[in-house]
Amino acid sequence: MTNRIIIFDTTLRDGEQSPGMSMTREEKLLVAEVLDGMGVDVIEAGFAMASDGDFESVKAIAETAKNAVICSLARAKEADIRRAAEALKNCKRPRIHTFMSTSEIHLTHQFKLSQDEALVVIKNAVALARSFTDNVEWSAMDATRTELNYLVKAVETAIDAGATTINLPDTVGYGTPETIGHMFRYVIENAKNAHKAVFSFHGQNDLGLATANSLAAVQAGARQIECTINGIGERAGNTSLEEVVMALKVRKDVFGLECGVNAQHLMRASKLVTQVTGQSVQVNKAIVGANAFAHESGIHQDGMLKNRDTYEIMTPESVGVTKTNLVMGKHSGRAAFKDKLGELGIRLGDNQLEDAFVRFKTLADKKKEIFDEDLFALIDTDAADERYAFANLNIECGSEGPQMARLGMMIDGHLRTTKKEGNGPVDAIFKCIKSMALDANEAELKLYQVHAITGGTDAQAEVTVRLEYEGKLVTGHGADVDTLVASAKAYIAAINKLERLSQRLLLTDSEATATEKKPAKKAKTDAA
Ligand code: KIV
Repeated sequence: MTNRIIIFDTTLRDGEQSPGMSMTREEKLLVAEVLDGMGVDVIEAGFAMASDGDFESVKAIAETAKNAVICSLARAKEADIRRAAEALKNCKRPRIHTFMSTSEIHLTHQFKLSQDEALVVIKNAVALARSFTDNVEWSAMDATRTELNYLVKAVETAIDAGATTINLPDTVGYGTPETIGHMFRYVIENAKNAHKAVFSFHGQNDLGLATANSLAAVQAGARQIECTINGIGERAGNTSLEEVVMALKVRKDVFGLECGVNAQHLMRASKLVTQVTGQSVQVNKAIVGANAFAHESGIHQDGMLKNRDTYEIMTPESVGVTKTNLVMGKHSGRAAFKDKLGELGIRLGDNQLEDAFVRFKTLADKKKEIFDEDLFALIDTDAADERYAFANLNIECGSEGPQMARLGMMIDGHLRTTKKEGNGPVDAIFKCIKSMALDANEAELKLYQVHAITGGTDAQAEVTVRLEYEGKLVTGHGADVDTLVASAKAYIAAINKLERLSQRLLLTDSEATATEKKPAKKAKTDAA
């Protein structure tokens, strides 16, 4: 057994599976790039069989990842495993992850299989996966509620069939550190071929124990931890990547284990996931919460001023929170801007850099001090070559009403303007956009969220808008010192994503039907 812990990130699969967390292919590629760059060992890129979109995302990540092993989930079904293998075809380091329940409660009520029948399913699924790649993970779903002697048999079957990683998940978040430790020790000691596989733990956080359980698993012999950025995932979420990574690093004296993740990228990864999902982390979230390094009490502040070690077990810088995050102002030049982006781990091509610099100058004219957070928001602003772009906005509002918005929007390079009344200025703005943009009228608003990027009354507002259209969810972001302008930008960003999504669907359709040509969609022309 080595002392190296494999960090397996499932933000893009288990994380994305939870309500409100869905991401587009482009967003998943961005997240995967950050995970790969920070030293995550295995990225579970999705569940290729779940949808064409999932398949395309896994395939794209598989084709672009530089270092990490890329994995697709597959049920113990032939079609799933073949689909996963197809998505991973051009991957440098592919892994197929197949799973089957082992608990009596799942086998009886969900799968209607006897224990012996389930062993056959496990054997066939793993053997088929192994015919495509020599890196196969098998998970015993609901392992923590499985009778231990049967779990040993199931594990032996999977390893004999070729599994190289054995994952024992706490699917329903029922385990405690003691029971998880016991399960791993028992299986590793009793499965006769245990030495041929790496053992892994996947923890759900229903009782708030996922991180503690993951650490108990590694103390009992597991060498892979499955986790997600910000702990997102089914129900109460998964083990949080940033928590286990920092626990292993800060308490190396206790665990004595190595982990290859560069912790200085944790904050950036957390912010990116927050931005693409539109779901903020709680302020007191360990490691990445806004208050994680804030010292409010007088006694603590007094200690900190005398010696930081009095109340700080790790520095903010060690997880990527910069000490002084004041960036620059309107006099800063191109070179300083590029340097600062480099420091933040942001690499842009020449044209993107030029666009971002122009946006930076515009912002610097409105806002005296620009912080790292402002730069992240600036960079995440959608590219200029979109179909719809914000042009201008005038608002009439206040307690006397009516609230009115007059919005100018560039559509395919032409300025269109319209004016609408609404129940409040935001409603009026969204009505303007809906009246001018294709598909936007049918899209249902699922989330509208505003947060101040930094402190101060001149802080930029960052707005997240999530829309649902024909079962697909898209998220748009907009940042501006004016909250209403940010709202318009966020809604427009979301409809651009819808537009790209429908173009992708048209492409898939036309590929499938080869000769059938669909007419190009036209933007609405009823603008005033
Ligand atoms: O929670 C679970 O059991 C899973 C497995 C597929 C790993 O997500």
